[in-house]
Amino acid sequence: MHVDVLTLFPELFATYLETSIVGRAREADIVTVDCVSYRDFAQDKHRSVDDRPFGGGPGMVLMCHPVFDALHHVESRREGEPTRILLTPQGQRLTQAVVTELSARPWLVVLCGHYEGFDERIRTGIDAREISIGDYVLSGGEPAAMVMIDALVRLLPGALGHERSAAEDSFTDGLLEYPQYTRPRAYRGMEVPDVLLSGDHGKIEAWRREQAIARTKHRRPDLLNGVGSST
Ligand code: ADE
Repeated sequence: MHVDVLTLFPELFATYLETSIVGRAREADIVTVDCVSYRDFAQDKHRSVDDRPFGGGPGMVLMCHPVFDALHHVESRREGEPTRILLTPQGQRLTQAVVTELSARPWLVVLCGHYEGFDERIRTGIDAREISIGDYVLSGGEPAAMVMIDALVRLLPGALGHERSAAEDSFTDGLLEYPQYTRPRAYRGMEVPDVLLSGDHGKIEAWRREQAIARTKHRRPDLLNGVGSST
């Protein structure tokens, strides 16, 4: 998979992209990521990318031309049709089902929005899928891009080094994940459940499923309608 990220702050991504699972996936060429700054496509000597809103009001609005020009730049570098994603609190909520769908796309172009918003003609003019990571407003789309890339990359074959891990993540089967334990067997009087030490894989699997269902019922009953359909 290749991801182009269009942003005002490409430097925010550097450490994140070098670290942990995403860092290893990039090293193994499972995913490639390029971050491109809108500012490189500014047209004036101040390198402006935003301006005051027509009609008045607070804040600044991301202008059309740096966004369209940056988009044209990244899309003319490669063959094929990318999936364009515009990150905005007004978009479709990012769920594991959406992440799974996007993880099958070979090329994503991710556009990060800007504090006060962007010119509406960006939204209407680029025919992007609009995605929100939750019902709250971030100062920009950059943390949302990192969240989305993280969730996507862990689904790419080979990214985790252990294919079962992603299959057993919370939400993959519509349930929250079962409790996990590691050594020591007892810690400050808290014991690991006996069944996990039994070596009986059938029993362990049944216990984990039971725990996942009980946990989901208790914490997120809203998820239970979708159990089994991974939606
Ligand atoms: N930009 C600002 N807030 C956002 C959110 N909740 N999701 C995605 N992009 C955003």
